[in-house]
Amino acid sequence: MRATTFLGSRRVMSAIGQGMGGRPSAWSIQQAAPASPFHAAASSGGCSSSSSSSTAPSTSSSSSGSLPSGRPLRARLSRRLSTSARAAAVEAAPVPAAPPRSEVLTGDPANNVTDYIYSKMGTNLHLQPDHPICVIKQAIYNYFQANQPGLFKTFDGLHPVVSAHSNFDEVLVPKDHVSRSPNDTYYVNADTVLRCHTSAHQAELLRLGHPGFLVTGDVYRRDSIDATHYPVFHQMEGVRVFSPDEWTAAGLGPTEFAERELKAALEGMARTLFGANIECRWVDAYFPFTNPSFELEIFFNGKWLEVLGCGVMEQVILDANYPDGSGKKAWAFGLGLERLAMVLFDIPDIRLFWSGDERFLRQFKAGDLKAKFKSYSKFPPCYKDMAFWVSPEFTENNLCELVRGERGAGEWEGTHYGRVGALVKESDMLHLDDDVRMGIGGDLVEEVTLIDSFTHPKTQRTSNCFRITYRSMERSLTDDEINALQDRVREGVSGELKVELR
Ligand code: DAH
Repeated sequence: MRATTFLGSRRVMSAIGQGMGGRPSAWSIQQAAPASPFHAAASSGGCSSSSSSSTAPSTSSSSSGSLPSGRPLRARLSRRLSTSARAAAVEAAPVPAAPPRSEVLTGDPANNVTDYIYSKMGTNLHLQPDHPICVIKQAIYNYFQANQPGLFKTFDGLHPVVSAHSNFDEVLVPKDHVSRSPNDTYYVNADTVLRCHTSAHQAELLRLGHPGFLVTGDVYRRDSIDATHYPVFHQMEGVRVFSPDEWTAAGLGPTEFAERELKAALEGMARTLFGANIECRWVDAYFPFTNPSFELEIFFNGKWLEVLGCGVMEQVILDANYPDGSGKKAWAFGLGLERLAMVLFDIPDIRLFWSGDERFLRQFKAGDLKAKFKSYSKFPPCYKDMAFWVSPEFTENNLCELVRGERGAGEWEGTHYGRVGALVKESDMLHLDDDVRMGIGGDLVEEVTLIDSFTHPKTQRTSNCFRITYRSMERSLTDDEINALQDRVREGVSGELKVELR
């Protein structure tokens, strides 16, 4: 699991009634859909944390703020609603196709991408107009377009293979930050990654001099498996740059002004998605790229839910990248679209987004934020427990990758990260059946949970027992097929993770 998190998921779990299965997590909030590894919210233990400086729930803080034209946000909100059918001007970018497999599964010693992950590239759920991920994305684009026509340029087609420099260094992620670990991030080679957040594009777009932009795309993280975590999900990044005349006219200092504008804009966005009366509150947070940093939470279905992370951009990022950046100020935010879609549309399992099942897809339509997912099947889960003595190299992320997306026994060389370096040539891979190449359990794996752990008093060896929950969204699974899958998992675990089965 990730040690800290990007935006998204842990809290969504509670929102949709999923427990954390007792898993310890170093990530304070996360993927939900992800919570963020960069993120260390003051309220990591929950919204009521006393270390949080969250304000009291406020339904009207936007009334104190206005977007730069000075029109009160509420007035703008009603205008926005009346124009919500107007589509935002979307950058006519080429659709990012999947790169050739050999460019992603390179055989480089640092490469830890699997075929399962590769198979997701180029799917672009955020570009399929009636897909719930795209419906939410478009609603957010429309909101920004309606409030500040033409100001935000949108980017939907930026390629997910990026340099480690732009993914980490350019947004000031510390060298020893956990998100840089190959246990957390997919490396193509030592200098190239599958972006783990859309913040990876901040610096390059600032260099182009855009005063406002929104970037949406697929992001990739090695993580644990449950109903709200998937190794690929979608994020949106937003950035807005201000000039001195704007904060001078408001009679505020630059940081104070940017913070006020940020909060007003994002509360307005939350109301657009979740309803005009939704309660919002701000929680102090930490991200390497912003200062001050915040999370926005909404009170929805009886719970406070984290919606996004944001803040006033660290000045060195502006200074280093934006034309004449030292005279400017900016805000930035990042959010996980799966998380929002699961909450808004009542979608109970993150795998559904990828299912391609008509019974799922036909329930959503472009422009419709009112849809509520109706479950079309409740096939029974099947649980399999597996206990083993762990080795020092063992990590839960490696186990999850093996269970869901391993390449097949014998193809990887174990290292202290578990699996780096493909030992087979591409031509050999083609002889393997799809099942083996694409992972053992694939999307049939609903959850992997540590249910027991103890250390032997004499030998000091630690034994873990994991429960794997198998369930199909589409059909009933037979005992025979689950037993066969589980046998392969056991083989893979002892062969590749170098642990001793009990
Ligand atoms: N990149 C962060 C993540 O993935 C999200 C984020 C937080 C983006 C704060 C931002 C920001 O631009 O200001 O968790």
